[in-house]
Amino acid sequence: MPDLLDLPPGPRQPQTAQALQWIMRPREFAARQRERFGDVFTVDFDGEGIVFLGDPEDVRTIFTGGAEVMHAGEANAPLEPVVGARSILLLDEAEHLRERRLMLPPFHGERMRRYAEIMNEAAERDVATWEAGAELTLLPHMQGITLEVIMRAIFGIEEGLQMERLGRLIRRMLRLTTNPSQFVISLVLGPDSPRLEARLRAALDPLDAELYRVIAEHRESPDLAEREDILSMLMLARDEHGEPMTDRELRDELMTLLLAGHETTANTLSWAFERLTRHPAILARVAAEARAGGDAPYTEAVIQETLRLRPVLPLVVRKITKPVTVGQGRFRLPAGTRVAPAIILIHYREDVYPEPDAFRPERFLESPPGTYTWLPFGGGMRRCLGASFAQFEMKAVLHAVLSQVELEPVGHGERVGRRGFTLVPNKGGRVRVVRRLPAPGRERENELVAA
Ligand code: HEM
Repeated sequence: MPDLLDLPPGPRQPQTAQALQWIMRPREFAARQRERFGDVFTVDFDGEGIVFLGDPEDVRTIFTGGAEVMHAGEANAPLEPVVGARSILLLDEAEHLRERRLMLPPFHGERMRRYAEIMNEAAERDVATWEAGAELTLLPHMQGITLEVIMRAIFGIEEGLQMERLGRLIRRMLRLTTNPSQFVISLVLGPDSPRLEARLRAALDPLDAELYRVIAEHRESPDLAEREDILSMLMLARDEHGEPMTDRELRDELMTLLLAGHETTANTLSWAFERLTRHPAILARVAAEARAGGDAPYTEAVIQETLRLRPVLPLVVRKITKPVTVGQGRFRLPAGTRVAPAIILIHYREDVYPEPDAFRPERFLESPPGTYTWLPFGGGMRRCLGASFAQFEMKAVLHAVLSQVELEPVGHGERVGRRGFTLVPNKGGRVRVVRRLPAPGRERENELVAA
């Protein structure tokens, strides 16, 4: 572990004070440090220091730095009790590469179309219950939709009792891992506290049993090769030695996909509606694309802009195994340093995004997102495996919602709040259903009747 004195300068407040500011107001905390120290600074949450990087050139250095230098497994270690030691998040170098090769094909962009029906259905069923005039908090609805999509598209579970049971167990586990007060408790008690461990095991053990049951049922399934869910494809995948993934690996990856894919997508969807309802002209354009069907470049730009303006993960972390130079040659970071391409800084750079606080999807119609300036999904060898899945799902859900209901905002724009590691609208995305819309095709009929 490098000495803090060997790292670039940064705030010198006590660790807990820095950590609390980071938990409560990540953007403001990071922006203050950048103002004082520039694009490279060291924060100290736990005595080890993390070097924040706010310059796209340094992000390039990290994302292209090679798997043997840019480790992430150790930085993700706090997730191990939940995701397990074989999770792709915890592996590095050859082991990570093997896992990624096994997991990438089912997530390839082209394959996502086959999940469109599941995504649509899950969203449409939920929105069908939204009544005209009702005020809603979107976050729980979006969580319900994204959880159903994961259980059906990834775990390959059919609706019914098994889905209900699994859903209950997952929600119980997530309550523990995403509760903000739990985050603070673990900071105070320390990650190894036996009390925390016992609570976690009580939520995890029954969930693990259920996941192993799902895996066993897949193994017995006579039509495994024809099934379209991601678990089936993972079970059929073989590494370069012809070896399949073990049950333990499959369990760890199911838990990883659940944890990585569920809240992140639900939060981003809530943010999208939170911003859209406050920009009626933009909302109207997305609704028009929803009605028209087919390609939806404007909706895609809206999703990209939402992920820029309200990224749900504020940074990604690597631990370097060899010295690396950042800050235009000013800092030589020793091996063992944790570095963090700071999404929360890069996405608000005025030189890249003029009027960075404005919600302007057009910026991405004019030029597509840059690899080192648009990082909601991280980058390099560890870029989010579910990026296409998530964007496809968000488009499906936005369209399913906006073709059924007209929405307006409740109250003022929401602040950034926190759920575990992720950032959310602090009121969960409050909206009012102005009216329910006639089914597509019925609009024209109604017009003719009225005429
Ligand atoms: C809006 C939704 C999402 C956001 C913002 C998001 C963001 C991220 C970020 C920032 C990383 C770390 C990348 C890095 O270290 O460079 C990551 C990794 C990952 N994500 Fe996502 N994610 C989303 C949805 C999903 C979904 C839907 C899935 C799968 C169902 C998924 C699966 C993964 C996996 C497996 C990794 C680990 C990749 C590796 O270590 O090689 N994510 N995601």
